Amino acid sequence: MQSTSSRVVILGTGGTIAGTAASASDQVGYSAAQLGVAQLVAAVPELAGVPLEAEQLAQLDSKDMDHATWRALAQRVARHLERDEVAGVVVTHGTDTLEETAWFLQRVLAPRKPVVLCAAMRPATALSPDGPPNLRDAVRVAREPGARGVLAVLAGQVHGAAEVQKLHAYRIDAFGSGEAGPLACVEESRVRMLRAWPEGDALGLGLVQADPADWPRVEIVTSHAGAGGAIVEALCAQGVDGLVVAASGNGTVHHALESALLAAQRQGVAVLRATRCVFGRVIPVAGQALADAGGLNPVKARVELLLRLLAARLSAGAPCPPRTSRAARRT
Ligand code: SIN
Repeated sequence: MQSTSSRVVILGTGGTIAGTAASASDQVGYSAAQLGVAQLVAAVPELAGVPLEAEQLAQLDSKDMDHATWRALAQRVARHLERDEVAGVVVTHGTDTLEETAWFLQRVLAPRKPVVLCAAMRPATALSPDGPPNLRDAVRVAREPGARGVLAVLAGQVHGAAEVQKLHAYRIDAFGSGEAGPLACVEESRVRMLRAWPEGDALGLGLVQADPADWPRVEIVTSHAGAGGAIVEALCAQGVDGLVVAASGNGTVHHALESALLAAQRQGVAVLRATRCVFGRVIPVAGQALADAGGLNPVKARVELLLRLLAARLSAGAPCPPRTSRAARRT
């Protein structure tokens, strides 16, 4: 049900938005995840009168994001969204794996209220940091009547979890939504809609109850010139549960890698093809033996496959086969 309240909970997880450098002119040689979420809020004067709660959930460079933090985050976000007085949740995050966290939360929670991921490309100590305006805009979107789903707000744009992608390694406007474009813009604290808020069904928190150490192992392999099957064979020998292949073009895979992936699939490993291309999606071709990930990029396809494997386990009533038996299954 849509809340009538305007309270926003801000969960801090680290990232460059909380990063510091020795010099204000240093925008690359900084340490991420140094400032607490309360300090980030204090740096935004426009938030002074807004009913807010700030909570430190984690403090990491998002390149080091892990499944245990994802589970804790999903549980905490869900807990706050249940509260009638909470309009939405903002998560401060690093930019590097933001799109993966976004897709994980969207698929697990598909929230009816907004869950807004917010990040920055410059550390908090920069001469002109982008964190404070991004946090201001994220809180604004979290209070927008009718907003829903997992969103990302950066550089005045609102992106949906399905499409958002980090496209640039340095620029402030590093994120985009590909051909779909952003969902909305935030201009002078006003939200201007461009597309409808995302829809979707939640897989549910029950899916991620198991100890993350026991979650299925899903890895990404890349199809490239000169690719072979040795990596796939090594991963299968280790008992991998799922493989995403970052495929070329319309999901095409080097023949040597494809043979190994088909062999892995015959042994019970789940395989999904995602395109390496930034734009477009894999268009199905009749007779393809390896399923495709549609419009999901390889890192989001990995999240998708992980969740599908968790769902399959849950519906089979098998919380977790021990790793040794997974390896044995394939020998
Ligand atoms: C990170 O992802 O935590 C560091 C990089 C960034 O936030 O831009």
